[in-house]
Amino acid sequence: MSNESLFSKSKKVLVGGVNSPVRAISPYPFFVSKGEGARLYDEDGNAYIDYCQAFGALILGHNHPSVRQAVRERIDNGWCFGTPTEAELEFGEFITQRVPNVDKIRCVNTGTEATMTAIRLARGFAGRDKIIKIEGAFHGAHDSVLVKTGSGGLTHSVPNSEGVPADVTKNTVLIPYNDTEALEQALSENKGEIAALITEPVIGNAGCILPKEGYLQEAKRILAEHGSLLILDEVITGFRLAPGGAQEYYGVDADIVTMGKVIGGGFPIGMVGARVEIMDELTPLGPVYNAGTFNGHPVSIAAGLATLKTIEEEGILDKVAQTGRRMRKGLVDIVDDLGLGYQVQGVGPMFQVFFNGSPVWDLTGAKASDAAGFLKYCAILRDNGVHLPPSQFECCFVSSAHENEMIDFSLERFEEAMGVARGEENAG
Ligand SMILES: Cc1ncc(COP(=O)(O)O)c(C=O)c1O
Repeated sequence: MSNESLFSKSKKVLVGGVNSPVRAISPYPFFVSKGEGARLYDEDGNAYIDYCQAFGALILGHNHPSVRQAVRERIDNGWCFGTPTEAELEFGEFITQRVPNVDKIRCVNTGTEATMTAIRLARGFAGRDKIIKIEGAFHGAHDSVLVKTGSGGLTHSVPNSEGVPADVTKNTVLIPYNDTEALEQALSENKGEIAALITEPVIGNAGCILPKEGYLQEAKRILAEHGSLLILDEVITGFRLAPGGAQEYYGVDADIVTMGKVIGGGFPIGMVGARVEIMDELTPLGPVYNAGTFNGHPVSIAAGLATLKTIEEEGILDKVAQTGRRMRKGLVDIVDDLGLGYQVQGVGPMFQVFFNGSPVWDLTGAKASDAAGFLKYCAILRDNGVHLPPSQFECCFVSSAHENEMIDFSLERFEEAMGVARGEENAG
């Protein structure tokens, strides 16, 4: 069946025809039949070079043989037991040996569950109810963080979700990213009440916004002065910027770390980690409740371990960082050649072009971008075999399967698409 027919049928049984709002591409999304390396193939027989990589869940590309093999070996012996497996121990050791300030972990099933658990843990540990959240950051779809959220909330203009009790969000204090004065002020105005600041180290859900030099370290210092914790949400940056994530890459110490995406190798996973005294507050040792039928799911753990080992054995993080640099340099050249003045931002394998005349440091800056022009650019690219996360407020990713020729091919497509998007803007 064609993409179009599949979508029109899906709309009858799936809300908006999709199972997650960020997939609701206009006029209809393409339905994937196969993913292989850097490419996706759809039901109409089109191929795309994929810079979405399942919104960053993949770093080795699609259908990587070592991950496939590990999953096959796992399911040959059963896949869900409700009792521990040796692989969970190996996974825990692998992560705690590489991620700073993480002595113990708890595996959950999604990044959403990871940040929900991290926030509960911070509140329980600190004995305080309030948290500070960064405007435009996204930490999943749960009540405490569905305020001025990024990702689909921004793309579909739903800054605050209906159905979230005001009694919950009154405990979420919002501040702009990259603004330590606002942090200081929020902590002073809520003296003794803030359990933690939760932030993405690089905001990957409002485009790609980097921390200013020293911002994360200064934030941590200020928080410590007020007895508040730093929760670094490394669901995107974990095992992507460095084995120790953004903590290692930027040299900042978190109190609680959350990860997801890469560590599950494309299968559902989330993880909370911290020092012993914080983690031991969790059940069964402590009074902060967390539980889950699927926590540490054997298939996700197998896929995750295979991914993490491949990353290490094959020097994947250096490779993707190099590819990311090649991509960003090419994009800067295109923007210069076309005289567009757009901003190319990114780090490691992450990149985004803000259709914006000024560097973007926070949500206000991101929202000043030409989001409609960006959507046109995405649509033109899709027609020409290149798939980007379809929003100005998402981040693009290269994987280890993106070879230099693909980057160069894509850059030509980017140049054409930006030229056309600009032409349409002038014509309009
Ligand atoms: C930084 C960050 N935190 C949390 C989440 C939620 O993760 P999940 O979609 O696995 O629930 C995401 C998802 O995009 C994310 O980017």
